[in-house]
Amino acid sequence: MVTASAPGKVILFGEHAVVYGEPSLVAALDKRTYVDAATREDNKINIVSALGSDTSTVGELRGDTEDDFRYVKRAIALVFERLNESAGFDISIRSDVPPASGLGSSASVSIATIMAVSEELGVKLDRKEIAELGHKVELGVQGSASPTDTSISTFGGVLFVKPKENEVEQIEVDLSLVVGYTGVERSTKFLVDRVRRLREEYPDIVGHLIRDIGKLTREAKHMLVRGDDVGMLMNVNHGLLEALGVSTEQLSRAVYAARQAGASGAKLTGAGGGGCMIALTPKNQDAVMRAVDGCGCKSFYSVITRDGVRLEET
Ligand code: PMV
Repeated sequence: MVTASAPGKVILFGEHAVVYGEPSLVAALDKRTYVDAATREDNKINIVSALGSDTSTVGELRGDTEDDFRYVKRAIALVFERLNESAGFDISIRSDVPPASGLGSSASVSIATIMAVSEELGVKLDRKEIAELGHKVELGVQGSASPTDTSISTFGGVLFVKPKENEVEQIEVDLSLVVGYTGVERSTKFLVDRVRRLREEYPDIVGHLIRDIGKLTREAKHMLVRGDDVGMLMNVNHGLLEALGVSTEQLSRAVYAARQAGASGAKLTGAGGGGCMIALTPKNQDAVMRAVDGCGCKSFYSVITRDGVRLEET
């Protein structure tokens, strides 16, 4: 048996715009998803997680299912296709990353599955290839997806993701961040579709908003590299995401409360519609956490991890 794990993430800048080729800045969280993979003698694929369990066969894997394990099944199918080899598997998943919260649970499970299954079949894929397969999983399940989540789950640390160039740059930066989880689960696909429809209806206006998010993300990267405070740019990014229609009253209340309590900036993170917000807290961390909790969110202090996908001792 092989166990692999991969981290969740918070998007610092650039969500939604990154779907249209603009860059994003993203950090890996020290909350991980662990996947055990063991081959079986027959052709059954058994998957078990806190969400329940599922049994299918190797032949059924690629079906466009809507079930809770669609990311895992597609990840296994793509590994079989890449290795030109298949087998029955017992897959067991446990995760510290809350599902559908914008913290990258689907990417972390896809990436950990790709590493665990390929290693169990005796093949060491390099990280670039793992990230690319992971991106294909998200594209297959969601229709459209940027490489943001799958890149950060693979490489860890803080990344500047450039989808047009198909490149990522590792940024050396230490950030003090508070995350506030609204407890509201939402679908990334639904929110990405909403922005797409708005862009189709108002191509000029929404095109400008998307390009402006791209500009501020590039500026934020330069400022972070210089060691400057990017709080104000986070506030502007939140305003642009509100303009795209993906914030909620609760998210925006928590964002404003965090700023009032002394955060240097705050914004929603991920697709929006619920999920999470982040606040930059070089100081006043406890006050910001109390303010965010006062808006019905559950806050935690985020630790950025340098570890991307990795094998665990079994
Ligand atoms: O799934 P989330 O909430 O982390 O959202 C991902 C960020 C988006 O830009 C909205 C989608 C994408 O594929 O990059």
